[in-house]
Amino acid sequence: MSDRSDPPKEPSAAPSATTGAKLWGGRFEESTDRFVEAFTASVGFDQRMALQDIAGSRAHAAMLQGCGVLSGEDLAAIEEGLTAIEADIVAGRFEWSVELEDVHMNIEAALTARIGDAGKRLHTGRSRNDQVATDLRLWLRQASDQAETELRRLLEGCLDLAAQHTDTIMPGFTHLQTAQPVTFGHHVMAWFEMLLRDLERLRDGRARLNRMPLGAAALAGTSYPIDREVTRDLLGFNAICENSLDAVSDRDFAIEFASTTALCLMHLSRISEELVLWTSAQFDFIRLPDRFCTGSSIMPQKKNPDVPELVRGKSGRANGNLVALLTLMKGQPLAYNKDNQEDKEPLFDSADTLIGCLRAFADMLPAIDPRVEVMRDAALKGFSTATDLADYLVGQGLAFRDAHEVVGRAVRHGVECGLDLAEMDYDTLSAFSPAIGEDVFEVLTLEGSVASRSHPGGTAPAAVQVAVENARQRLQAM
Ligand code: ARG
Repeated sequence: MSDRSDPPKEPSAAPSATTGAKLWGGRFEESTDRFVEAFTASVGFDQRMALQDIAGSRAHAAMLQGCGVLSGEDLAAIEEGLTAIEADIVAGRFEWSVELEDVHMNIEAALTARIGDAGKRLHTGRSRNDQVATDLRLWLRQASDQAETELRRLLEGCLDLAAQHTDTIMPGFTHLQTAQPVTFGHHVMAWFEMLLRDLERLRDGRARLNRMPLGAAALAGTSYPIDREVTRDLLGFNAICENSLDAVSDRDFAIEFASTTALCLMHLSRISEELVLWTSAQFDFIRLPDRFCTGSSIMPQKKNPDVPELVRGKSGRANGNLVALLTLMKGQPLAYNKDNQEDKEPLFDSADTLIGCLRAFADMLPAIDPRVEVMRDAALKGFSTATDLADYLVGQGLAFRDAHEVVGRAVRHGVECGLDLAEMDYDTLSAFSPAIGEDVFEVLTLEGSVASRSHPGGTAPAAVQVAVENARQRLQAM
């Protein structure tokens, strides 16, 4: 069962000012106002759940037949009809109609048109309220799985990139000022950790969304002798929703997905910002292949990092969708309210955005070309080993605060005369403290600095190698 990838087809509009027979028309004396009909219809966007709707109907019909509510003949006709409708939808031949309001009634009407009375019996013991909640969960389950596939690809890409650069040295930053040398592999493994938590959240949310509303009917359940376990099993749900009022009304599973999406996009946006900075002439830490960039229509020299920029921008809509869904739910009394029809567009958009951004990133990351020499040169500037000198002095018996003061004075001298600590000669350095010996240059090298941080979680090449191996196992175990 998959989402239809083609854009929703424009439903046909009815010709008159009010419109004709409805599946629920029995108690109505006048027909629906044309504008109200279009205003309240959801078929323009909920047709994306058509295949899930058909899967739900197949399972419901099979269950009803097993429980003796539908005859074997009816079931056979329903199955045949749904199969034909499914083929029409997949082929883009199905005529969606606004008059029929939503995906559920469009398909049910088409079924009855095809197979007659058996089609009218499909909705026994079911409501659009449990139907739509079921469809949406099924739809989101496959979207979540698609996002997981792309996210895993991106995580593998992080691991491969980090493994290639366990001893590539770059400046690490705080406040975007040079702080201490780190390895590029260590930096990439920070991205991995951020994104692995997103994978945890995605899977955690999937387990909670994979519960079945069907059987809740409109709100109170049904008096037919249904067997919800049969439908649950046929549709691959983990469990049934335990309370019928809750089953048809809450959309917290959609909010969780939107929240996971917003967090993941926040992470991708941060990584994007680094890639944008690093591709600038001022940093020049990495090159992105041309296929992930575009040019300028006026400035011939430009190569713009469009993919990271756009992903950074798309985090905005992910936040918007999350707020829209939270706000949609916050004042709703039990049980179903029409408000809930507004859940779909933000959710679809969050899913499309997440899957698209992850896919672009998973494709792009292995193609990043780190400029090893440029990164190393940058780490040599900005006194990145100042803390190492302070730690050295502590080793010689100074208190850390005193060591901090000594190094601070050495740095001020370096700023004045344009020299990094490692570039000063021994006489200049030792003038700042008698505790500074000839061996000081060992700790002032970038390699010495990173190698000394070899504890778990540290930036040393050896520690990063171990981190990558552990991370591969953690990812596989998930
Ligand atoms: N189109 C509706 C939705 O998206 C389907 C459920 C309608 N139920 C109802 N009682 N009007 O929520």
